[in-house]
Amino acid sequence: MKILVTGTEGYIGARLAPLLIADGHEVVGLDTGYYRDGWLYSPPQRPSVLPRTLVTDLRSVTPSDLEGFEAVVHLAELSNDPLGENRPEITYQINHQGSVRLAQLARQVGVRRFVYASSCSVYGVGVGDWLDETSPTNPRTAYARCKVMVERDLAPMADDRFCVTFLRNATAYGASPRMRFDIVLNDLCGLAWTQRRIAMTSDGSPWRPVVHVEDICRAIRLTLVAPEAAVNGQVLNVGADSENYRVRELAETIASVFPGCEVTTGPSRGDDRSYRVSFAKIGRALPGFSCEWSAAKGARELRAIFERIDMSGETFAFRAFTRLKQLRYLTQTGQLDEDLRWVPL
Ligand SMILES: NC(=O)c1ccc[n+]([C@@H]2O[C@H](COP(=O)([O-])OP(=O)(O)OC[C@H]3O[C@@H](n4cnc5c(N)ncnc54)[C@H](O)[C@@H]3O)[C@@H](O)[C@H]2O)c1
Repeated sequence: MKILVTGTEGYIGARLAPLLIADGHEVVGLDTGYYRDGWLYSPPQRPSVLPRTLVTDLRSVTPSDLEGFEAVVHLAELSNDPLGENRPEITYQINHQGSVRLAQLARQVGVRRFVYASSCSVYGVGVGDWLDETSPTNPRTAYARCKVMVERDLAPMADDRFCVTFLRNATAYGASPRMRFDIVLNDLCGLAWTQRRIAMTSDGSPWRPVVHVEDICRAIRLTLVAPEAAVNGQVLNVGADSENYRVRELAETIASVFPGCEVTTGPSRGDDRSYRVSFAKIGRALPGFSCEWSAAKGARELRAIFERIDMSGETFAFRAFTRLKQLRYLTQTGQLDEDLRWVPL
């Protein structure tokens, strides 16, 4: 299949593209390259092939960029909550309008499949335990509201010519060369490694579903080749029931993987998201899908990477591994304008 993957220069995309190429697909990337300053390690897996990539802003995509592709996997958005709250109008411009326009153009030029990276954060503060795809959404942030709006606007486009699937990923973790240390498990592992101490900014009671980046990639790879009838117009939570953890439990699991690490709790910073999610549906829609990773296994993987590169506190704190820091740096130094477009020299 000829596949356009947006966001190939990001955390998930940097893992996904080589896997799709290994599956035998022809992959072209599309990414504006906000986080290109950060590359944590050279992948030990060989061969690791990078796709040809269009260095384009999602908001400037033209129909000709999309012609000839059979599928689009769409990952390129501003990718976390505090980012969305910082300048919500930009989040709406890129994540909502940019994504809807991409899907409209793809449909217009005859792309057959569209896989959208949505998020379990659409559930926000759960209105009940064990939320599933039929539960009401309750988005708390611009980022999560955009995910709900994109799902709402793309759902009616699904028909027998255009197969759309919404993958609501749990919070990702695990190694990627284009690392993110601003997501919970990776952050806690980085703290455990560099400080031997996880000081939580809450009592650690909220529930969080987490999923390894490779398991997200597996869900995308299976969706792309699934019978259309099984996935068209479907919303699928991506993760595993057993991978819902209280944040405190996650911290303790990680501490047990990093010897000498202690865990402390503190007053809440007001992040009241808490949700436990059911992942039963994806196993039915995508036979063969199950998560191969657990939080403990993921923590061991990260420890091995940190050992391999002898990771310093400086590297852990490097701006490009925290999405918000990097965008602030690029705007403060005038490399990006206030709409997050590159400024020519
Ligand atoms: N990582 C997670 O925990 C998680 C969980 C659920 C859903 N998701 C979704 O998966 C997708 C990928 O997440 P990620 O963690 O890899 O994020 P990321 O920030 O690491 O990668 C996003 C990539 O998109 C690119 N991008 C952003 N805006 C762009 C624009 N206007 N034009 C072109 N390229 C642009 C960035 O340069 C970056 O390389 C996102 O849509 C995210 O919301 C991620």
